[in-house]
Amino acid sequence: MKINVKNVENEPLEICFAKILLNWYEQNKRELPWRNTTDAYTIWISEIILQQTRVEQGLDYFLRFVKRFPDVKTLAKTDEIEVLKYWQGLGYYSRARNLHFAAKQIMNDFGGKFPEEYKNIRSLKGIGDYTAAAICSFAHNKPYAAIDGNAYRVLSRFFGICTPIDTPKAKKEFTELANFVLDKKHPGKFNQAMMDFGATFCTPASPNCNECPFAEKCFAYTNNKVDSLPQKSKKINSKNRYFNYFYIRNNGKTYLHKRTSNDIWKNLYEFPLIETKSEASLNEILGKDFLKEIDFSKCRITESFTKKHVLTHQNIFAKFYIIDFFEHESKILSNFIELNESEIGDYPISRLSEIFIEKLYN
Ligand code: ADE
Repeated sequence: MKINVKNVENEPLEICFAKILLNWYEQNKRELPWRNTTDAYTIWISEIILQQTRVEQGLDYFLRFVKRFPDVKTLAKTDEIEVLKYWQGLGYYSRARNLHFAAKQIMNDFGGKFPEEYKNIRSLKGIGDYTAAAICSFAHNKPYAAIDGNAYRVLSRFFGICTPIDTPKAKKEFTELANFVLDKKHPGKFNQAMMDFGATFCTPASPNCNECPFAEKCFAYTNNKVDSLPQKSKKINSKNRYFNYFYIRNNGKTYLHKRTSNDIWKNLYEFPLIETKSEASLNEILGKDFLKEIDFSKCRITESFTKKHVLTHQNIFAKFYIIDFFEHESKILSNFIELNESEIGDYPISRLSEIFIEKLYN
């Protein structure tokens, strides 16, 4: 592993990375019940549940599960059907079956005591490299880096690793790198910190770079590559966007605007649009943007149609609304082009707005 870049304090970058990460963790860590224990069994249950769901939702499942099955022995001797009941709603039932199977393995092969060696833990059904490393480091503070999606993202951004993360090459490369930068004195804390930092700060979309303690040393941030790292080989990373269009009928008049920003459909025309970060209801957008200018006592608004429009790097989830004015109102929208409805065809409009018109009138 060739990482010999020095930071300003002349410390190797990997030392500096671990220091910043642990410091961040001290100030930002989430209090979670599986962090107050070194019991391998309890940690194992939490990790398998968390492969299936997010922390917020997994919490209840975890608490119920360990209350009913507090140890390996109890889990091993319970009927599988009851174990599955406690899993109900989490989906992917093979994980629960594997838990049950592995509990019996522990009873038969390890005398009922949860194994401590990495290779023995790894031999249990349903436990892969990540889970074995998580258990070893959290329960026994052994120096194994637990490399989940969060670790791939954080490392690829900070160190500027462009190898597509869904390849065997990346697995080898990231495993080496993660174990190299791992704080060998505090591997458990380091792994937890990486998960928390990735889950809450260095998120896939909209990471909190403005407040990020790594920012000035982060390759992705300093090279403007946060959005393009980590890379994937298989599918193009498509971004989801949510467009809410308003086709306004003001007694023969309607409204368009021209897209000018550096974005899709530059210089094409389209109906007045409000873009939201996620799917939004009409109520959530009524008071926003140009809709503020509309007096809704003078018109009726109806949802007309929805469409997923797929582009090379973007999925557009579009909703079209129609606003019908009861009587003609003069100049209702200040920043839009007012035109006769019959003139729409004179403008180069985006394909999505065109599809809407085709649907409406054909
Ligand atoms: N996701 C997976 N394992 C986790 C853990 N131990 N803490 C928080 N989030 C996690």
